[in-house]
Amino acid sequence: MYYSGKRRGEDGIAAVIDFLLSNARLVLGVSGAAVLGIATLAVKRLIERAGRPPDEKPDKMTDSWEELSLVSASPKLLHKSIEGVVMKRIDTATQKAELSQAIPLPSPEPQCCDADPPQRRKHMDLCVMTFVDRLQQYYRTRVCLSAEEVSVAQQRALDIATEIKAFLHYKHPDMPLGDMTLAGSLIDNLQVVKADHACLIVPLQLESSLWTPIAGEDTFLGHPKFCMVRRENLEYFPRGRSYWDRHLLAGYLSSRLVSEQLGKTVMESMNWPLLTGTLECEVRPVLGSPELKLEIKGLSQSSYESGERFYITVLPTVRLGEMTLMAQREITGSFDYVWYQSLYTSETARLAELDKADSGVRRKCLKTLKAVCCNCTSLRKLNASHLRNVILHMSENEADWTESVFADRFLQAITELIGYLETGILPSYFKPNLNLFQGLNEDDIDEMGYMLYSAITEPEILLI
Ligand SMILES: *[C@@H]1O[C@H](CO)[C@@H](O)[C@H](O)[C@H]1NC(C)=O
Ligand SMILES: *[C@@H]1O[C@H](CO)[C@@H](O)[C@H](O)[C@H]1NC(C)=O
Repeated sequence: MYYSGKRRGEDGIAAVIDFLLSNARLVLGVSGAAVLGIATLAVKRLIERAGRPPDEKPDKMTDSWEELSLVSASPKLLHKSIEGVVMKRIDTATQKAELSQAIPLPSPEPQCCDADPPQRRKHMDLCVMTFVDRLQQYYRTRVCLSAEEVSVAQQRALDIATEIKAFLHYKHPDMPLGDMTLAGSLIDNLQVVKADHACLIVPLQLESSLWTPIAGEDTFLGHPKFCMVRRENLEYFPRGRSYWDRHLLAGYLSSRLVSEQLGKTVMESMNWPLLTGTLECEVRPVLGSPELKLEIKGLSQSSYESGERFYITVLPTVRLGEMTLMAQREITGSFDYVWYQSLYTSETARLAELDKADSGVRRKCLKTLKAVCCNCTSLRKLNASHLRNVILHMSENEADWTESVFADRFLQAITELIGYLETGILPSYFKPNLNLFQGLNEDDIDEMGYMLYSAITEPEILLI
């Protein structure tokens, strides 16, 4: 557990907080309780800090000051709902030990304006109006890429892909590859803020009789995000029967060996400086990256002057049955025979399909959230995969995704995110046993939780 009490009193308080949380769920529903959960986490942390000897972790003291200033930066929210509500309940509950009775809690409704009840409704509407307008404006001016920017980037990426394709065929005429295609958010109209990256999918053609995918859960790794590709029937179809046998490692197809072969060709053998003239832009392999990445300078005249860069990642890909497996060594790390099972295509296709059926704004919401998270330092760790899955989960319960509820859905996504952060678990939509928050540490989660929690009363802070 997050909180580790050493003293009797602290254990008592922790028990009360947990008790409050479980009751809050009954009274407020999951989202409301989640909001309160982050608030109580703040309290837990303050208690923990207060009980810690001053010489312990001295470098962390600045952090707690930052947090305190964050607390006072939004006094309405934190003082009222944390100290005013939770702390008082803790006091009464510890004193009277009324642990068997449910404690009614006020709903943490956003307090947008202070005014008397009749006027308040009006003020609320005004505040909401303003936010809706601001969100729409943010979407138009900050999130969306211009059609021209997209088309220039796509054309350049296509030209480069054509060169790579031709060179690979020339250099390895016997390498069984499927149709190479550009992929990713730039192609799916999901890229935001700046057109700055695309992927080139290089599909390996594997003989289905000789290769079997083994899901990560069923391997020693025990991790559903990975997969291994096992070579079958070696006694009847000996090594060498398949082109890809040269990349075997202990009976499995090695993503590292495949990447290395493609890397040698694309990154080392292709004469990129010479191609600069033909391509009308500068292309340079990114060295030292575990991925096969090309950096492009001068997509257009103006971007050349501003020093902007565009990146193309070459992704060796295996499609076996329903699975799409990628050699993404940034993710698989030192596991040389492990492939990354990408759900990007299934997730984006599902969102597109849902939006198409009801002219919905799911992808608009997703793009806005992506822009918000990439522009806000404390939310950087929330990546597109997290956000896609949140919207997909929301779509299970929310039927109305019309334009008129765009801002509502955006704010709802913030609340849902807080809920997932509070539990530390965001299940993958297509693979519920995969927790997309795995790999984030406690501090990351806290930081994101605080930021989003503050945004509940003041959503404008996200649009800075
Ligand atoms: C957010 O966007 C604004 C305007 O585009 C920019 O000035 C600012 O540096 C960005 N912040 C971060 C953290 O990227
Ligand atoms: C998103 O972040 C998670 C957790 O940090 C990480 O495991 C995952 O690989 C990232 N996904 C993408 C597509 O970058």
